[in-house]
Amino acid sequence: MDELYDIQSTRLVAPQEAPGDGEAEFSLRPRTLDEYIGQERAKQNLKIYLEAARLRGEPLDHLLLYGPPGLGKTTLACIVAAEMGVQIRITSGPAIEKPGDLAALLTNLQEGDVLFIDEIHRLSRQVEEVLYPAMEDYALDIMIGKGPAAQSIRINLPRFTLVGATTRAGQLTSPLRDRFGVLLKLELYTPDELAQIVRRSADILGLPCQPEGAAEIARCSRGTPRVANRLLKRVRDFATVLGKQAIDAECAKLALQRMDIDQLGLDELDRSLLRALIELYGGGPVGLDTLAAALGEEAVTLEDVCEPYLMQMGFLVRTPRGRCATPAAFEHLGMTPPSPQAQASGQQSMFE
Ligand code: ADE
Repeated sequence: MDELYDIQSTRLVAPQEAPGDGEAEFSLRPRTLDEYIGQERAKQNLKIYLEAARLRGEPLDHLLLYGPPGLGKTTLACIVAAEMGVQIRITSGPAIEKPGDLAALLTNLQEGDVLFIDEIHRLSRQVEEVLYPAMEDYALDIMIGKGPAAQSIRINLPRFTLVGATTRAGQLTSPLRDRFGVLLKLELYTPDELAQIVRRSADILGLPCQPEGAAEIARCSRGTPRVANRLLKRVRDFATVLGKQAIDAECAKLALQRMDIDQLGLDELDRSLLRALIELYGGGPVGLDTLAAALGEEAVTLEDVCEPYLMQMGFLVRTPRGRCATPAAFEHLGMTPPSPQAQASGQQSMFE
């Protein structure tokens, strides 16, 4: 995991949070639902739930946000708290090691507060069990003593809203998933939405961005505002040094090219993977471990960092026999895809 984090943090197009994102990402975050661009379906429903909770004078029901990394789950949790006029406590599944850690968090909440647990699928079973009565009855069951003399006492908690976030909804246990009243799925952003986000962020950073410049950045951002904002900051460096009054298409193109990010948002690692797959293994199928060894990378890096986007772009498929490059991948790298006959025989051998 540490290894993965290291590699991701050096990649401008990784959707996971990187150390350099910190402060700027925070300042670029929208604070209200009206400022929040995109996720229209989730946003419209959330507006109703918030309004209803406010009218009834109750906390919002527990909310689960799920979807790929970098789409604004933490931002939405902060907006929920702001819209309800309450405090938010932010933590994550791996940070809550023992039931006592969770008990401490819960007993420090005020009436109506939001508790945000990122990567909630990584909570241990023991911790999860403390969460059930807390979510259902706003209560904490504590065991006093051991053996036959052990006694359970119940402590009442303030009514609160748990906002859980996960990139892997499938890994959530069903008792936990069932205790969320609201499930919202976040989708990758459209290029138009990303361009709006880029222009808003550029204004906040103090160097406006022309629509064509924003479109260039949006196109390379993998559907992810976190990537868009990170690229914007680097493009802004080029614009500043070039003495531009605004970020235009020319400057954005130049910066992206200098960062080795191509027209579709692929970086050098993505392209090396496709190149290895095509040049060393005739386009596949090849096992993930073999491919990782050929590139000198960890298999988990390729699997979690490169492949999701390559699959989404239709450049790579996972088959039972291994990874395969698609004709679109050949074309993107300026290579000729194998003839349909050769491909057919390759496919046959793949599933034999
Ligand atoms: N910055 C990051 N995500 C955003 C969003 N969804 N709307 C506006 N600004 C953002």
